[in-house]
Amino acid sequence: EKGGYEHFMLKEIFEQPKSVHDTMRGRLLVDEGVIKMAGIWDHVERFKNANRIIIIACGTSWHAGLIGEYLIEEYARIPVEVEYASEFRYRNPIITDKDVVIAISQSGETADTMAALKLAKEKGAFIYGICNVVDSSIARITDAGSYTHAGPEIGVASTKAFTAQLTILTLIAFKLGKHNGTLGNAEFMSLIAELDAIPKRIEEVLSSTHEQIQQISKDFVETTNFLYLGRGYNYPAALEGALKLKEISYIHAEGYPAAEMKHGPIALIDENMPIVIIAPKKGHYDKIVSNVQEIKARKGKIIAVVNKGDRQVSEMADYVIEIPETSECFSPIVASVPLQLLAYYIAVYRGANVDQPRNLAKSVTVE
Ligand code: F6R
Repeated sequence: EKGGYEHFMLKEIFEQPKSVHDTMRGRLLVDEGVIKMAGIWDHVERFKNANRIIIIACGTSWHAGLIGEYLIEEYARIPVEVEYASEFRYRNPIITDKDVVIAISQSGETADTMAALKLAKEKGAFIYGICNVVDSSIARITDAGSYTHAGPEIGVASTKAFTAQLTILTLIAFKLGKHNGTLGNAEFMSLIAELDAIPKRIEEVLSSTHEQIQQISKDFVETTNFLYLGRGYNYPAALEGALKLKEISYIHAEGYPAAEMKHGPIALIDENMPIVIIAPKKGHYDKIVSNVQEIKARKGKIIAVVNKGDRQVSEMADYVIEIPETSECFSPIVASVPLQLLAYYIAVYRGANVDQPRNLAKSVTVE
């Protein structure tokens, strides 16, 4: 049932070209220039006229939500807030019937997310679900929703569900953007063509980085700390990379927006600190170059995720992982794949039980 892979997690990482494709299937009609999503379309005025969209989730799904904020604000120009379900529900949040609340949950059973949704519903908000498990509790109580069609995710560490969530959020942002007139037709057409090819880009990254990352991982088996940095869309990707590493390898890892480094974490950097830096060409590249210079000056070990043909960051890096160039909004999908592999192999080489890490459960039904 692991399809020849040693662990479900590795199988699920490798399934991503298919799971992302399955998530778009029947929705993204490139030739017709259409995104079909009944759940959005039936309520499109609710979204368009929303005071704001509040995304609630936990863990990896919350990271997807942060990227959703960038996507929806950039393309649909609707204000978005992203909240941990557990914080939202306990702080008497201001919610009205003009708000739209989107819950993101792989399992559809997370207790805090469920409770936050009930609260939002009581206050009259329109509630929308992005779940992977069909007919799960969250899928059932929401007013409408879109399933991620990632297929069953068995590994406790979420991988393919995350990229499927990003795919749905991208489709929603583009669809609302087109409807709202905030995303022009020419850009819409070129973005959806690019989105359609993302499964191929993931395939390329898997085959071009897999062996290399196995090698790199061997150098970090004894490491006790990691920093992950990114800017813009890749700041949440850095958070997610760090979460993957800590949950399965038990190495302490922190994700940070790269520009925040100088406000504190830079004090941690010495020759023993590995820093994973996500630095694709599109998205504040020059700023990232100066962050990398600051790290280099303090002898941090740099593992750079860059686009093919990159020079400036690569010259300073100790390890260079290349990903294909995409529009900025797609880069977290492509950049997450090698970071999943990195976490996976470091954990495997440390002898950890990657599919069932200690203290963690696949669905968190306690509050
Ligand atoms: C991380 C992970 C958890 C979940 C979180 C939310 O790999 O699996 O952080 O993302 O518990 O779970 P769902 O998405 O099922 O609500």
